[in-house]
Amino acid sequence: MVEIDSLLHAGYHNPAQRPWQIERTLTKGALMYPIFITDEPDSLIPIPSMPNQYRIGINRLEAFIAPLVGKGLRAVMLFGVPNDSVKDEFGTAADDPSGPVILAIKLLKSRFPELLVSCDVCLCEYTSHGHCGHLNSDYTIDNTASVKRLAEVAVNYARAGADNVAPSDMMDGRMRAIKQGLLEAGLSHRVSLMAYSAKYASALYGPFRDAACSGAKFGDRSAYQLPPGSRGLGRRAIERDVREGADIIMIKPAMFYLDIVRDAKEIAPNHPIAAYQVSGEYAMLHHSAAAGVFDLKTAVLESMASLQRAGCNLILTYFTPELLEWLD
Ligand code: PBG
Ligand code: ZN
Repeated sequence: MVEIDSLLHAGYHNPAQRPWQIERTLTKGALMYPIFITDEPDSLIPIPSMPNQYRIGINRLEAFIAPLVGKGLRAVMLFGVPNDSVKDEFGTAADDPSGPVILAIKLLKSRFPELLVSCDVCLCEYTSHGHCGHLNSDYTIDNTASVKRLAEVAVNYARAGADNVAPSDMMDGRMRAIKQGLLEAGLSHRVSLMAYSAKYASALYGPFRDAACSGAKFGDRSAYQLPPGSRGLGRRAIERDVREGADIIMIKPAMFYLDIVRDAKEIAPNHPIAAYQVSGEYAMLHHSAAAGVFDLKTAVLESMASLQRAGCNLILTYFTPELLEWLD
């Protein structure tokens, strides 16, 4: 016999009751769309490792974004994809005033003033060695020089009109340096800082590195991105970035790190929590659906539900265009 304290079905038998059981309902406002801006102005090139994603030239950007804004897109994150010829040891091209990111910020803010423009801040797309910071002669990271340069780049994106800057480099102490830089530039009231706080050294960035041509030429990123099995470092990074002035705490990747998302919610209960469903997660869901493992829409919506259940307020996902349709 089923005991009276065992009865759960009644609470969700009627479909009208199911939303009452859900932690948060997914809305378009919870999404941020990461896009790649190439320095070939007229190009719109499909990215082979990421179905339906493109490297977008500045002259193609308005037409690419307009229909999405029409469907309710509220926020994008920009990644620059420069040609190899501009890369150097220091990532000088990151804040080139005529480079793809700064041109894209200006264009988007003039055509779509309501669209929040966030910029990933990192050097790996712009360095000849492909690492996220400056290197010492023994190829270890020069943290001090890296932080100084990253703060400069972030402030220059903010000066160009970016609404949010999001450093993904994982150098120590960059949040404070960037926040300080924004304050000194008189921009701290209108530019927010999203910390890629717990960013793990993940296999799931593979397609992105293809898309952004940002793979390291030697070594890997394990000396600055977090070891996948570590919970303590993730928690300490979150605590640190809260102390250093981050406005939003992000966890990356998303689906393999839901415990860390939940940790972030607990450690930073008064901050918005974001998760980045990265390129490998995107490709995995796409390829699985294509192989008949599951229905794409059902699985993607379930992945969103998992992130919200874990505590996310904001989700960065390449599925944003599909979700804008599905959420209608
Ligand atoms: C650059 C950066 C990466 C991603 C976001 N910013 C790649 C990396 O750290 O190697 C990954 C995004 C994705 O995989 O979708 N530091
Ligand atoms: Zn990087």
